[in-house]
Amino acid sequence: MRSLVTFYVAMKILVLHGPNLNLLGTREPNIYGSETLEDIVGLLKEKAAELGANIDSHQTNCEGDLVSAIGSSKGVYNGLLINPAAYTHTSIALRDALQAIDLPCVEVHLSNPAARESFRHHSYITAVSVGHISGFGAKSYLLALEGLIDYIRIRDAGVVE
Ligand code: DQA
Repeated sequence: MRSLVTFYVAMKILVLHGPNLNLLGTREPNIYGSETLEDIVGLLKEKAAELGANIDSHQTNCEGDLVSAIGSSKGVYNGLLINPAAYTHTSIALRDALQAIDLPCVEVHLSNPAARESFRHHSYITAVSVGHISGFGAKSYLLALEGLIDYIRIRDAGVVE
């Protein structure tokens, strides 16, 4: 009788954090909360482990570094979680990079940019993301991770194109 062996490969998610997010914890805590980036990454790692995924996390203040990290992610990661921070509102280069790799991406924000200054109302990233979560502080990242993993699982089961 043939034995059936199931191989389980953990999903790999790249989490990218844009400019000034290294300052979380002390940066306008009334808007962004009191958790540091390290706290958030720790929470994400716990959540990822619960959901059977691994995450790599990278913060940079440089637009080009984000573009390069996105460009190198295809073939390595199953999906991307990105808080592009201020580049959300300015960067066609980030949008083009996300569109070029054709990997599912979820846009995440701690605050709700739509409820803030008008220059934050437009996102270059939303249209090239499978979804976006904003306004729940550190929890935005956890909700976004859950959404992204669900999206990939449902797509791979053949339900979503
Ligand atoms: C942010 C919102 C952006 O408008 C801002 O420039 C940031 C952080 C957020 O997480 O709420 O740096 O992306």
